[in-house]
Amino acid sequence: MNEKIQVISKYALQGHETQALNDAALAAKQTLECGSGAGNDFLGWLHLPSSITSQDLEAMEKSAAILRQNCEYVICIGIGGSYLGAKAVIEALSDHFAAYKTGNGPKVLFAGSNIGEDYLYDLMDLVRGHKFGIIVISKSGTTTEPAIAFRLFKEMLEKQEGKEFAKQNIIAITDARRGALRGLATQEGYATYVIPDNVGGRFSVLTPVGLLPIAVAGFDIRALIAGAVEMEKDGDEQVLAYAIARNALYQQGKKIEILANFTPRLHFVAEWWKQLYGESEGKGHKGIFPDSVDFTTDLHSMGQMIQDGERTIFETVLSVGDQQHEVIIPSDDEDLDGLNYIAGKNVDYVNKMAELGTRLAHVDGGVPNLLITLPAVNERYLGQLIYFFEKACGVSGYMLGVNPFDQPGVEAYKKNMFALLEKPGHEEATKAIREKLKN
Ligand code: PA5
Repeated sequence: MNEKIQVISKYALQGHETQALNDAALAAKQTLECGSGAGNDFLGWLHLPSSITSQDLEAMEKSAAILRQNCEYVICIGIGGSYLGAKAVIEALSDHFAAYKTGNGPKVLFAGSNIGEDYLYDLMDLVRGHKFGIIVISKSGTTTEPAIAFRLFKEMLEKQEGKEFAKQNIIAITDARRGALRGLATQEGYATYVIPDNVGGRFSVLTPVGLLPIAVAGFDIRALIAGAVEMEKDGDEQVLAYAIARNALYQQGKKIEILANFTPRLHFVAEWWKQLYGESEGKGHKGIFPDSVDFTTDLHSMGQMIQDGERTIFETVLSVGDQQHEVIIPSDDEDLDGLNYIAGKNVDYVNKMAELGTRLAHVDGGVPNLLITLPAVNERYLGQLIYFFEKACGVSGYMLGVNPFDQPGVEAYKKNMFALLEKPGHEEATKAIREKLKN
């Protein structure tokens, strides 16, 4: 078995991609590694895996052990880069039905990634009367969605279990000095972890932002980091292959990349990937639009559009080698459902044939296909995948000619929302937006 993720582009590229693209990719990689490009004050993630110490990991394991011992539920509060990495890894490694089973340790739940009133109500209803802890994550310390959720759950926890329990079981992950959350954590005496200045939200899963919740969920953060180190040291060939292929396809008019998986546990890996690439590349009216599908489920809905709709799509399939368990399709004497032709095969064999058949069909339909193979879904390979996607994103963004490490566009909705909510300091904007709405 290959011990590393691989990028295979034989159904994506014609073999006549220009030398210019190869040169551009090498130049972009060099720019990234030398720190001479735009956004170079946000490159702390580049050597994060190899620079995390055993003591750093031990501290997080100890904090996780306290929450695991004291709590039935741990609520992770955060949004965007302060949420998706942990969610992706935890979902990928968990039993699909963990929510309905009693298991070891607390259930890790998420809040602050939306402003859904019913969502918050239902979650409060669930944890009422149960011991719970909170990991609140915000680099800026001022983001509205997690701030609202934290205010609600902090108050609830203090009333329910008392201030001392709350203090012992709330952990804040934020900037070292700045932001409301830092001030609040200092005042309340919470344990804290720092999000390094030079690591942006969507590149922060291998900091305490991702690692602490993953450890609380009971997964091996040392193996995750070990996998990331493997790609940091020896992943450039794959990184370049992916960055070259997607830029070649973009230049040929393929403006949409669909990340497809045939493994339900990877759904949130794709959500994390969408943020990473969308927020990094969508600038200056440029960028590949990142979308995702779960196959075979979405073959019965989006499959039509991919096979036969506008030809502006390419597809990247995340293909998993080994499943964790085997389920054999039984033989049936009467064979009324006509399935005996696959009796004795395991379910994943059928899935693999669906995967190959889909790839060939989509290529025939004019959808170039890139394949990323993951030997299995475990901490090590997820660590590899995370670092691979991060580095390829930096290289690809520089090839595209954008700053992959800023996100000026996400401020627009916030300005309008604050104006509409009449947030102090936004009086002029409030007047202006009211006029706009009148007209
Ligand atoms: O990638 C990013 O920078 C964003 O998605 C942020 O992570 C997100 O907006 C949350 O920000 P913060 O951690 O400051 O609350």
